Amino acid sequence: MSAYAKREKFYSGFDMEESCIYVDNKKIQDSRYSNIICKIDAIIDRLRDNPGCGVVSDVYDLFKTMTQHLIKENTFINMLDFPFARQHFENHSEIYSTVADLCFKCIIKQMVDPAELDNVRSIWVKHICHHDRLLEKYLLS
Ligand SMILES: [Fe+2]
Repeated sequence: MSAYAKREKFYSGFDMEESCIYVDNKKIQDSRYSNIICKIDAIIDRLRDNPGCGVVSDVYDLFKTMTQHLIKENTFINMLDFPFARQHFENHSEIYSTVADLCFKCIIKQMVDPAELDNVRSIWVKHICHHDRLLEKYLLS
């Protein structure tokens, strides 16, 4: 079983199919998955295939993408009367701190531990499965 498949099995709470939407019968993958989770997986797989390879720019790109996503989502939530906004913002803040710390250490050391990227993936999946699902339910209510 590939590292990717193992992660998919471990995070069975996050269903890729559920994260897709259909527009004109075309399957479009959730941007959180394609822009964040897939990027993390790609970096982890590169590091596992070639330990010590240079991924600083990829980690920095991931940090920028995540930051843009969090800012956009916070701005959107601020326009709503979402009852769990505070908890959502707090979790966004924790994610931001974790990824900023990872990115800073990566730039200083010029390397990153795949286990730390796995941790970032885990907190993102937990966020999507809990906080983002609550937001989706609120928007659909
Ligand atoms: Fe969120």
